[in-house]
Amino acid sequence: TERPAPGQATPSTTQSKPMLRALAGEAVWPPPMWLMRQAGRYLPEYREVRAQAGDFIALCTNPELAAEVTLQPIRRYGMDGAILFSDILMVPWAMGQPLRFAEGEGPQLAPVRTAAAIEALDPAICAGNAAPIIQTVRLVRAALDAHAQKTTLIGFAGSPWTVACYMVEGHGSRDFAAARGMAYGEPQLFGKLIRTLVEATTAYLLAQAEAGAEALMLFDSWAGTLSPSQFRRWVIEPTGQIVRAIRKVNPAIPIIGFPRLAGPMLAEYAQRTGVQCLGVDTTMDLRWASGAVEAHQALQGNLDPLALVAGGMALEAEARSILGTMRGRPYIFNLGHGIEKVTPPEHVAALVRLVRTG
Ligand code: CP3
Repeated sequence: TERPAPGQATPSTTQSKPMLRALAGEAVWPPPMWLMRQAGRYLPEYREVRAQAGDFIALCTNPELAAEVTLQPIRRYGMDGAILFSDILMVPWAMGQPLRFAEGEGPQLAPVRTAAAIEALDPAICAGNAAPIIQTVRLVRAALDAHAQKTTLIGFAGSPWTVACYMVEGHGSRDFAAARGMAYGEPQLFGKLIRTLVEATTAYLLAQAEAGAEALMLFDSWAGTLSPSQFRRWVIEPTGQIVRAIRKVNPAIPIIGFPRLAGPMLAEYAQRTGVQCLGVDTTMDLRWASGAVEAHQALQGNLDPLALVAGGMALEAEARSILGTMRGRPYIFNLGHGIEKVTPPEHVAALVRLVRTG
């Protein structure tokens, strides 16, 4: 009873947008498409604005410039989805955790590992440090509406588990041993951090929806590092809490969950979080994923970003195989992870032509 019936998930005014139709459970063909990290360093026009903004955080907190880079891939390729330009780590940054993006070494944060450090975080980010990001959503939505675009505006956040990984570790990692160690060794303390993130993320996503986001996505890039019992506790449980809290206030907005590298845990994630759409990573067999989720739940993915770098016959073969498997079910074409910065923009153009001809 929690999920709207297929075709009734969105107001009729936006029902003609292909991505919203797919999210409402319709097998739209050719499928709507967008690419994770579609605004980014592979685009010369992005690098230009990025240089103008100074550093990456300055770009994320400048509504005019962030709106501009959000729209760049829409202008260039006519994507069906425009994803807000920001970063999952802007939530810990907005809560007061020092963050910097160092050239070539990825994000660096002052690790949060004590009760005092967790208590110092301020989850009321929307009226505070995250206000410029909410303003970006308003600007992008106004620009899309002004041109009567069929593009769906996607708001997003990181899932509590993945954001906590970076907060505890202090940087990227292959296995996030410090975060996983804290989750086992100090579950009360780690649970406090996760609850803080659930609260901040719920309010943040609701504020994006109110500002004009038409769909929401939760990125759980490191969901695949957990044992099944830990996955239930730190991925499914908090994600379900966020989904249910959002539905209480905004029952219509579709939510995409992306538990990357979840493997067979995808089935339980789909069932227990109740998201409308499942992001599927590159390693997953799409036929299996189709059987693992309900028929009305859309799938989104999962072209290998390296196939897009390679281009040519390899790209064509992979993309055609995905399209052949997904035809007839609610589906959104995408990559299985973010676009690589060495991707030639003309390969993206070739992919768009291929997908658009079904
Ligand atoms: O176009 C879009 O998809 C929207 C914007 C977006 C970014 N990051 C911009 C970005 C989104 C949705 C993200 C999500 C994100 N950020 C995730 C989840 C998805 C995934 O990739 O697994 C994660 C784990 C992050 C954290 C993050 N942000 C890392 C590890 C890095 C450094 C890696 C790198 O490429 O430098 C970032 C930086 C970042 N986020 C960039 C962009 C365009 C590059 C920064 C730059 O321009 O210098």
